[in-house]
Amino acid sequence: MRCWEPGLRDIIVVIRRRGTLLPAKFSLFFKISLVKWQPEIIMLNVKDQKARGETSLNNSRLFSRIALKYDFLNHLLSLNIDKRWRRKLVKCAGVKPGDSILDVCTGTGDIAIRFAQSDGVGGIVGIDQSEEMLSIARRKTKRNGFEGKIKLLKGDALNLPFDDGSFGIISIGFGLRNLADHKKGISEMVRVLKDGGRLAILEFSPPQGLIFGMVYRLYLNIIIPTVAGIISGSASAYRYLPTSIANFLEPEEIMKLMEAEGLKKLYSKRLTGGIAYIHRGEK
Ligand SMILES: C[S@@+](CC[C@H](N)C(=O)[O-])C[C@H]1O[C@@H](n2cnc3c(N)ncnc32)[C@H](O)[C@@H]1O
Repeated sequence: MRCWEPGLRDIIVVIRRRGTLLPAKFSLFFKISLVKWQPEIIMLNVKDQKARGETSLNNSRLFSRIALKYDFLNHLLSLNIDKRWRRKLVKCAGVKPGDSILDVCTGTGDIAIRFAQSDGVGGIVGIDQSEEMLSIARRKTKRNGFEGKIKLLKGDALNLPFDDGSFGIISIGFGLRNLADHKKGISEMVRVLKDGGRLAILEFSPPQGLIFGMVYRLYLNIIIPTVAGIISGSASAYRYLPTSIANFLEPEEIMKLMEAEGLKKLYSKRLTGGIAYIHRGEK
């Protein structure tokens, strides 16, 4: 089964099917938000287990395709707010002197580098399945003088190549949403976490609230794919972003998964009007 990602033409089709004729472009954009078209289209693909498997397989290729423009677009499209979120994630993780750290789905290494800048941390390992993202991370760690402190590995978050109880802190930023099996992802991270260690998750949340949700959906579904598509040359990669966010777990569901894996002292922090959340738990 081919994973269908909607383009503007598909949006028009869906709205017409609902019997709403939209003569002007402005009203088309407006209606897109009002009718909440997105879940209707995308759930056909992503909520389906088989399609989720394919999404995961294609994931690594998708990130490899946009790797060169990933950082630039992240900062541009978030107006640099993403940097603040990562800083907060590292702060929330509560690094203690000598803590060994694992950053899962490390991508271009921003979170690993943030940890390396904290006082007293032990070794840091960043793991990702995309070689292209990792090669940018390697360049950045070298440029920041953390070559000896951060080890970057290619590997699968759903099958972490570490012994049980290897790390004092595990982080994952904007990665959980991309895993084919969120439950397995959390359970793997908890497995390699030491007793008393902390798991810190930074992730987008599905749009909330009527007005804010509407504006946010418009931004996610129209502005981001258009701007990022032009800059990265891969609009489909950036149409995947709203798809994956809209179909991702609610913050409460993530907390339940963490609790089910035996994590305690659960804590959740809402960021920027609920666009993103940090979740933390202790083993
Ligand atoms: C949105 S990026 C996040 C990168 C980084 N953590 C950040 O804060 O920008 C998601 C990353 O997850 C990686 N990824 C997706 N599925 C993975 C898996 N099963 N195992 C390891 N990495 C994975 C992708 O290659 C990509 O680099």
